[in-house]
Amino acid sequence: MSNDAMLVIDKLGKNFGGVTVVEDVSFTVPRGGRTALIGPNGAGKTTTFNLISGVVPLDQGTIHLDGRRIDQLPARKRIGVGLSRSFQNIRLMPHLSVVENVMLGQHSQIEGIGGLFAPIGLMRNHPARHVAIEKLGDAGVDVDPDGPVSGLPYGTRKRIEVVRALMSRPRLLILDEPAAGLNPRETAELSDFLKNATADGLTLLVVEHDMAFVHGLCDHTVVLNFGRLIYDGLTQGVQADPAVREAYLGARSVPTSGAGRVA
Ligand SMILES: Nc1ncnc2c1ncn2[C@@H]1O[C@H](COP(=O)(O)OP(=O)(O)OP(=O)(O)O)[C@@H](O)[C@H]1O
Ligand SMILES: [Mg+2]
Repeated sequence: MSNDAMLVIDKLGKNFGGVTVVEDVSFTVPRGGRTALIGPNGAGKTTTFNLISGVVPLDQGTIHLDGRRIDQLPARKRIGVGLSRSFQNIRLMPHLSVVENVMLGQHSQIEGIGGLFAPIGLMRNHPARHVAIEKLGDAGVDVDPDGPVSGLPYGTRKRIEVVRALMSRPRLLILDEPAAGLNPRETAELSDFLKNATADGLTLLVVEHDMAFVHGLCDHTVVLNFGRLIYDGLTQGVQADPAVREAYLGARSVPTSGAGRVA
């Protein structure tokens, strides 16, 4: 196993009710790099993220994070060893404020009783609150941190989720369609924010349909189709690859170098 690998996926497999949705998938995410995981709708991208983060158990294969085998660990322990994620569908707590939602991501960093109560506003001066507000600013989320998260525009809530995922100070951050629903300006801001966030060694694995976003952010791309890996290489080679072109043609869409969804 290479010392330069942050995440090593080996022969990953998953069946749902006898239907294979991830089959013999192996790839490596280089340490400190930004890797994209793309593929047509239903290709198995979110399932792969669920297997990596431990949201669903795998049927075959192994997963190593920074040299440590993690595929048998419960999801919360994977956070403890440096993994953090966002979800394709927004999972914020609507009755909590913006900053409280972000502080929820820091729960593994806050010790004892403080950790229990900090996110629900009982510790207004806890250092985690200041970190959360600072990171919201870094991400260009210009809203009242004490205001309710519900009612905020979709693109703003998506970015709040990304900020929350960063609060556990992960070594590997996996984001499932973080740019979906963002306008072009928000997408560009998110891309810059993620470049800054990864400048000091954080490793990123991102599922995204927006190929302009992928090209701007990730030099390494892996492609899934019907649960199988069909490409692993430079992002700039993706669109010319015959197997990738065929996969997207089969999905009645072609990856383009312009903005917009691939599939
Ligand atoms: N819990 C589940 N039970 C049964 N089938 C599932 C489950 N989760 C996912 N699937 C199926 O697995 C396949 C892959 O789904 P997945 O959500 O991983 O695709 P995806 O690549 O993330 O697609 P999209 O781009 O639309 O988000 C789909 O056929 C889906 O219906
Ligand atoms: Mg998905």
